Amino acid sequence: MKFTDSPVIELAVRHGVLSLQQDNGSMHVGTSVWPCSLVLVKFAERWAPPLPPNTPNPYSDLLDFRSKRAVELGTGCGVAGMGLYLLGLTDIVLTDIAPVMPALKRNLKINKPVLGKNLKHSILYWNNLDQIRALNPPFDFVIATDVVYIEESVGLLLSAMEALLADNGVVLLGYQLRSPEAHKLFWELCEEMFVIDKVPHDHLHPEYAYEETDVYVLRKKKKQ
Ligand SMILES: C[S@@+](CC[C@H](N)C(=O)[O-])C[C@H]1O[C@@H](n2cnc3c(N)ncnc32)[C@H](O)[C@@H]1O
Repeated sequence: MKFTDSPVIELAVRHGVLSLQQDNGSMHVGTSVWPCSLVLVKFAERWAPPLPPNTPNPYSDLLDFRSKRAVELGTGCGVAGMGLYLLGLTDIVLTDIAPVMPALKRNLKINKPVLGKNLKHSILYWNNLDQIRALNPPFDFVIATDVVYIEESVGLLLSAMEALLADNGVVLLGYQLRSPEAHKLFWELCEEMFVIDKVPHDHLHPEYAYEETDVYVLRKKKKQ
């Protein structure tokens, strides 16, 4: 397991290395880097085109990021968004609550040389419809990692996902069970709104596959 409580975490993504500064002592969970984000990025790195010729790829369509728009919810230090950017998801906006912005901005600045620019970022509280509208949805991708841990926020998170996602869009979710109550409610509501596919564990990156961490692909249910 590459997750560590050291103040700096490095993550190699194709031709670049991201360097993440985290502060585990802060009162905001968003200032730490959570394993789900690394697992999602390394899963995408394993399968996002281009792969060597004649490599069978069950995810070639899903992870074809060309000309796609994306938003990340609860980005924290920005690992998932930055990693997917390096894999070709170049039209992406990273969002989180206001107190997490300094940590996000610091990490975007540190990684500007490898990213080549300062990625778009914005304050977004999941219950704030004005902030959701200001992002100009719909998006082809909604990215979220380790965001299901407060029961009271679960409904808001799912509503934000639904409001931001295009009808034929995809949520890429890095998931770890944090709270049994939040877990139960999230998957109950999720099933009503989305078609849920779980990535088999042996499709994750072998060095970034932890028993307790999963990647899910969510698609909006077709309206009857
Ligand atoms: C456990 S952290 C995960 C951070 C990052 N995605 C990662 O995997 O390293 C959960 C994130 O969700 C954000 N979050 C929680 N509730 C939120 C809300 N109501 N609106 C927006 N963001 C929220 C937190 O600020 C935090 O950055």
